[in-house]
Amino acid sequence: MSDFEPIVVAFCCHYCAYGAADLAGSMRLEYPTNLRIIRLPCTGKITPVFLLRAFEKGADGVYVAGCLEGDCHFIQGNLVAKPRVNYTKKLIQEVGLEPERLEMFNMSAAMGPRFAEVAREFVQRIKELGPSPLNKNYHIQSDAA
Ligand code: FES
Repeated sequence: MSDFEPIVVAFCCHYCAYGAADLAGSMRLEYPTNLRIIRLPCTGKITPVFLLRAFEKGADGVYVAGCLEGDCHFIQGNLVAKPRVNYTKKLIQEVGLEPERLEMFNMSAAMGPRFAEVAREFVQRIKELGPSPLNKNYHIQSDAA
């Protein structure tokens, strides 16, 4: 399983987490290339359907990254997102996925190093969990080898 490179989808809010990703890049901080960043206007836009669709399409791990609590540019989008993520963790557990494959993080646009740290730690977590049973591409390649 050491050659397993997970696909991680990161839903990032435009104002904070996406800015932090930009800053991490400007600071030349290294973080894994496993991330597929999807920019949202605010994490309040996230729904369980988006999260489940990411897993259905083959993501091994998914996280939502929004502004710090109290700093959402749409007042309480990140506070709305948090219970949706927690609810979806329960849903994926019911279909046999580890709830640790889904997480929510908060950070400001000035937290480039934190963005890189979250990315590294989350990708490592997913590597330890192994491929998602829904990741058809990985299982097709593994079966063919
Ligand atoms: Fe960033 Fe709402 S604008 S979480």
